[in-house]
Amino acid sequence: MEKLKLAVLVSGRGSNLQALIDACSAPSFPAEIVLVISNKPDAHGLTRAEDAGIPTLCIDHKNYESRAEFDVQMTAAMTTFGTELVCLAGFMRLLSDEFCAHWHDRMINIHPSLLPSFKGLDVQQAALDAGVRFSGCTVHYVRPEMDSGPIIIQAAVPILADDTAASLAERILVEEHMIYPEAVRLIADGRVTVTGDCARILDHTAPTHSLVNPALKFGSITKF
Ligand code: GRF
Repeated sequence: MEKLKLAVLVSGRGSNLQALIDACSAPSFPAEIVLVISNKPDAHGLTRAEDAGIPTLCIDHKNYESRAEFDVQMTAAMTTFGTELVCLAGFMRLLSDEFCAHWHDRMINIHPSLLPSFKGLDVQQAALDAGVRFSGCTVHYVRPEMDSGPIIIQAAVPILADDTAASLAERILVEEHMIYPEAVRLIADGRVTVTGDCARILDHTAPTHSLVNPALKFGSITKF
């Protein structure tokens, strides 16, 4: 089986990278990681990749005069390794328009909110402050505007009465580790088509039940 070649870009902990490494270790998974790049020399993600025998590169943004030069270097490295899909996994650099154009519909990101709500940083606190009843995570194709682009898959996580930003982040992260490999699988299987700002999934099976938070008490509903 010809596998989709992934490059994963990280800046830190790399738990989503680990979820992708674990998924790719299954012989039937339709993708493989050919390269991991970090812009930070001490990113734990680099160690995870080395432990898994995956080629790594540290391209330290501090060594480049401009964002454009840094991005050109990353594209050159990924191209050398035959990258077909770029997976941003906690990569904490803004990307140039040219870089986004080069990898258009060939680059995805994971974000810990239900986009388009709560873009940027500290999104769990933002969700708590807004008083929403659900947050979650999103895997989407990357466009030049931060945290935007066609949505591939989302997981909704109910917010609990005593949640803190940390407890919510922890529950969302569990879902991230499930939906990121699933998004890669959908793409590798050729089931995702992008038209403009919208991605569609071939043979899309959606859950049939709604989630309600706070939970409905049995018998509390008046039917008209
Ligand atoms: C994740 O919460 C991801 O959604 C966001 O950055 C975090 C990276 O975590 N983009 P990790 O490095 O994958 O553990």
